[in-house]
Amino acid sequence: MLRAIVYTSNTGYTEEYAKLLGEETRLPVYSLADAGKRLEPGSEIIYLGWIMAGTVKGYPKAAKLFRVSAVCGVGMGKTGSQISELRKANNIPESLPVFTAQGGFSLGKLRGVYWLMMKLMSMTVGKNLAAKTDRTPDENDMLELMQSGGSRVKRENLKALLEWYGSGAEKPNEAV
Ligand SMILES: Cc1cc2nc3c(=O)[nH]c(=O)nc-3n(C[C@H](O)[C@H](O)[C@H](O)COP(=O)(O)O)c2cc1C
Repeated sequence: MLRAIVYTSNTGYTEEYAKLLGEETRLPVYSLADAGKRLEPGSEIIYLGWIMAGTVKGYPKAAKLFRVSAVCGVGMGKTGSQISELRKANNIPESLPVFTAQGGFSLGKLRGVYWLMMKLMSMTVGKNLAAKTDRTPDENDMLELMQSGGSRVKRENLKALLEWYGSGAEKPNEAV
């Protein structure tokens, strides 16, 4: 039975999604750092991690400690994008559902190497996008996010994950 939602967040967007998901499912929500103390090893969880250069942060540790029944990566990209790439880069088995939700971006909240990576990225990718004359609406959104920062966290971005949860996962209140 699903016990909890466990997350890793750097600047807070993944944490927001974990809390929204907690409200919707009534499952308790723990950061991965706390989850080791709060949950039995091998407990069944939904794992949410922020996306860094195509990897879901914390997934290897979460998969080692717990039984992960679904993964949700939170990145700058559009909700539902990058799923097959994430599965591949993180060695997530085909049997495990993977979702993505668009988080947000704030250069000012980043520190050290993460700040540098995104500063460089906004200079290169951002510049290329800015120079493009036939930008799609998604590319416009990405450019705006890179240039001005901001949040794209919305409850509806969890729709696919909630549908999966509603369709089969055992609910906490069904226990006993
Ligand atoms: C170093 C770095 C690399 C990133 N790489 C990706 C990426 O590959 N794909 C993506 O969609 N977002 C990427 N992002 C954006 C973050 O995943 C996004 O800002 C996310 O909402 C952060 O979540 P958090 O607030 O929980 O830390 C990257 C951010 C940083 C700082």
